[in-house]
Amino acid sequence: MKRSILLLSTLAMLGVMTLPSYAADKIVVKIAGMKPDGEPETIGMKLFAKYVMEDSKGKYDVQVFPNNQLGKEDAQIAQMRKGIIQMVATGTQTASIFPAMAMLETPMLYDSFDHAHKAMNGDTFKLITKGFSEKSGLTLMNAFPLGFRHFYTKNPVNSINDLKGLRMRVPNISFYLEFAKQLGQSGQPMPFAEVPAAIDQGTIEGGDSPLADIVAVKMYEKIKNITLSGHILVIHGLYINNDFYNGLPPEDKKIFDDAAHRSAEDIWKMAVEVEKKAVEEITAGGGKIVEPNAEFKAGLKKAGEGTWELFYKTVPNAKEILDSVNQYR
Ligand code: G3P
Repeated sequence: MKRSILLLSTLAMLGVMTLPSYAADKIVVKIAGMKPDGEPETIGMKLFAKYVMEDSKGKYDVQVFPNNQLGKEDAQIAQMRKGIIQMVATGTQTASIFPAMAMLETPMLYDSFDHAHKAMNGDTFKLITKGFSEKSGLTLMNAFPLGFRHFYTKNPVNSINDLKGLRMRVPNISFYLEFAKQLGQSGQPMPFAEVPAAIDQGTIEGGDSPLADIVAVKMYEKIKNITLSGHILVIHGLYINNDFYNGLPPEDKKIFDDAAHRSAEDIWKMAVEVEKKAVEEITAGGGKIVEPNAEFKAGLKKAGEGTWELFYKTVPNAKEILDSVNQYR
């Protein structure tokens, strides 16, 4: 018996199979995330954990590790693919495995949270994720918003031209670099966790993030100017290792599915309020908020749609995905 447990554990460590660990009589499920406490991604993970633990009557012990506690985003995804951990909350980082996943955050695509919500509960989500599971060994269980990205900059930005030539932090994801290029910026790829230090060292002059991220690290204390450009809606979700997921008894799988759906719906419901509260907090903390005018917005639209060319080149069903959002307007 002891030898077979040892063999199973060794296989799991080698990534040959997923073996959940058992704490007393509970099955432990580990979820890693990259965002700090209070940010929608972390709230989503915690709600999912709560729902699974309640609905399974304690059969599962869902442990949540936000804020890069288990390593930065790429390391978390690698651990999940090997089955060392069961789940990760992340975003378009998964485009490095399957390029279509980048289109979850297509620049200048959605009119509002409501528009994106319908697309993510409908055809757009299905078209983007088609084939992802087979390619990656993972399933994306839900999709929820962290917020629209807005620019934070050392100097005030009042027009599209003011964005040109800036050294801006971008996530290390191809279309983000392409978007910076379209805006005439020098994109500096780095994980979000490295941004505050990069500002202190002067290696970047700004970046773009959802307001919840800006508030979570009090970015406005380092960089005062926030331009409400809203050019990309950041969509994260709960990813799960297929070996673990497909090994769940059907009634437990349903509990996991329902918890993923409910937790995402909770986040969609709070999205508008999260942005409103963040604006208040930024203003109270000394940040200066600028609303772009119509000409500025037109410039962002042109740059955003310029990045769509990359999707046409790398995602076979890109046109179908882009067209699918129109039915939800
Ligand atoms: O979904 C990807 C997105 O989260 C990357 O942005 O700023 O969180 O690294 P950031």
